[in-house]
Amino acid sequence: MKRPFVFINVASSVDGKISNEKRVQVKISSPEDFKRVDELRAKSDAIMVGIGTVLSDDPRLTVKSEELRFERVKRGLPPNPLRVVVDSKCRIPLNAKVLDGSAKTLIAVSERADFEKVETLRRMGVDVLVCGEEKVDLRGLMKNLYDFGVRILMVEGGATLNWALLKERLVDEICVYYGNVIIGGSKSPTIVDGRSFDPPINLELVEVKRLGSGVLTRWILK
Ligand SMILES: NC(=O)c1ccc[n+]([C@@H]2O[C@H](COP(=O)([O-])OP(=O)(O)OC[C@H]3O[C@@H](n4cnc5c(N)ncnc54)[C@H](OP(=O)(O)O)[C@@H]3O)[C@@H](O)[C@H]2O)c1
Repeated sequence: MKRPFVFINVASSVDGKISNEKRVQVKISSPEDFKRVDELRAKSDAIMVGIGTVLSDDPRLTVKSEELRFERVKRGLPPNPLRVVVDSKCRIPLNAKVLDGSAKTLIAVSERADFEKVETLRRMGVDVLVCGEEKVDLRGLMKNLYDFGVRILMVEGGATLNWALLKERLVDEICVYYGNVIIGGSKSPTIVDGRSFDPPINLELVEVKRLGSGVLTRWILK
């Protein structure tokens, strides 16, 4: 199956948490890492998150640097990559920042989604793709994204979507930035939640470097 190159980018505490028990955004990254993430966004064709991340963090998922947006336009691209939200039941709030019109947005839903909400989103100019019966069919979504011209897909969480993509063997690379914090909490989301993989997924370390107050690691899936 043809699909985009898929990489997960995540900011983690030293103890592997990506948020706290309240599932609210916690400051993990450093300014140096924000810059790196912005560069990764600018190099990507699309940025994907799960609905859990939209509901907890309400990210805008745009390229923050005007210079990087300008460089994309010079390359014949839109200023911002496509924003993709994986949202089976179409729970996305209509005032979510990813629906602010500052970039194109695709909501991937399943047949469980409320038809009227889907129509409302479409009237707002948002693309909605129905893909899967119960949950969003991630393989089908990847194929569709490839057909839409997406070759590089950046995944920005959260814990459940990361797990589901790994389970489907749809991930090529993982970048983990470990910030200089410990969050703790047995119910705090980790880099990968869901069920454990047995046997574990093997990775190869391809980069490790000190960045700001933390450490950047980059791994490829074997
Ligand atoms: N530090 C970081 O880098 C970072 C980045 C992002 C998020 N976060 C944190 O991560 C937390 C959110 O993570 P999360 O695990 O709650 O949410 P998530 O991974 O963002 O979204 C998970 C949701 O996606 C939907 N989904 C649709 N199709 C799916 C499929 N095939 N497989 C799996 N899920 C599917 C499910 O909801 P439906 O069944 O309703 O579709 C599922 O509950 C927040 O606390 C946020 O702050 C941290």
